[in-house]
Amino acid sequence: MNVSTYLKEAIKIAHDAGKMIKAASELAKHIDTKENSADLVTKTDRAVEEFIFNRLRHLFPDHVLIGEESASKSINQLTASPTWIVDPIDGTTNFVHGFPFFCVSIGFCLNRKPVVGVIYNPILGQLFYASEGNGSFIKEGSEATIVGASPKRLGEKIIELPSSLSEALLTTEYGASKSLNHLNAKLDMIKTFLSEPTNGRGVRSVGSAALSMCLIAQGAVDLYYEAGVHAWDVCAGCVIVKEAGGIVRNWSQNEFDVLDRTVVCVRPSNEVSPTILKDLLSFLLPISYPRD
Ligand code: IPD
Ligand code: CA
Repeated sequence: MNVSTYLKEAIKIAHDAGKMIKAASELAKHIDTKENSADLVTKTDRAVEEFIFNRLRHLFPDHVLIGEESASKSINQLTASPTWIVDPIDGTTNFVHGFPFFCVSIGFCLNRKPVVGVIYNPILGQLFYASEGNGSFIKEGSEATIVGASPKRLGEKIIELPSSLSEALLTTEYGASKSLNHLNAKLDMIKTFLSEPTNGRGVRSVGSAALSMCLIAQGAVDLYYEAGVHAWDVCAGCVIVKEAGGIVRNWSQNEFDVLDRTVVCVRPSNEVSPTILKDLLSFLLPISYPRD
């Protein structure tokens, strides 16, 4: 089997999972908290993960499955074996509040490297997908039409990146951690970006790491960084960004490691090492999170 088979199946599963998420988004939510009041899980997160795992198990019985809601049992299993890394709902807080930025995110790794990524936001009707070496695409449409819709290749029209952070639009996230060390460092970085002498153009925060990466792949924002992300938040997105021609790396290393808990992205451009990436990296403060 090759990556195009895995991609095809992941798209079908994401579409069906998206239907479940959309239907549940219109009903009352059964909410539990995990680490704190901002770290949520619902019955739907668990049901969607179980649904996706059952489908993957049936199709690929010898593959390893890692998912956010069963992570305590599975996160140490990222080995060279074929491995699926799944976030049943990325943006659970948005799902709970009805803020329309939540999605299902399905990534697939070979030899520990993400090679397939599918992200579906059933509310905005956007399906993003990519596989290594084959480009990155978006399809748009309703639940009934989206799978058959014509794909649009991402990163085809390369618009020059701003040469300075003062012309850049940035997206970042606050994450669920309530640690003051984490929050102070995150707010200090935003202050550094927005104030003199950097004078960054603006900061956005959509509440989903996976959809932030899709915005990068679309070229709708120039830069994204976050500390505290888990492998399931970024696995699918990193393939979608890279295949669109964007840059994905960790805060302190070029070669992206999904277990590192940090991510930096630059939108598609022709520049191999853009100046704004160097400038962004220079103000990132070290924030420590235990590795996945
Ligand atoms: C969270 C979202 C959020 C990001 C957190 C993630 P969840 O995922 O992606 O934007 O800041 O780091 O944990 O909990 O909604 O699946
Ligand atoms: Ca999640």
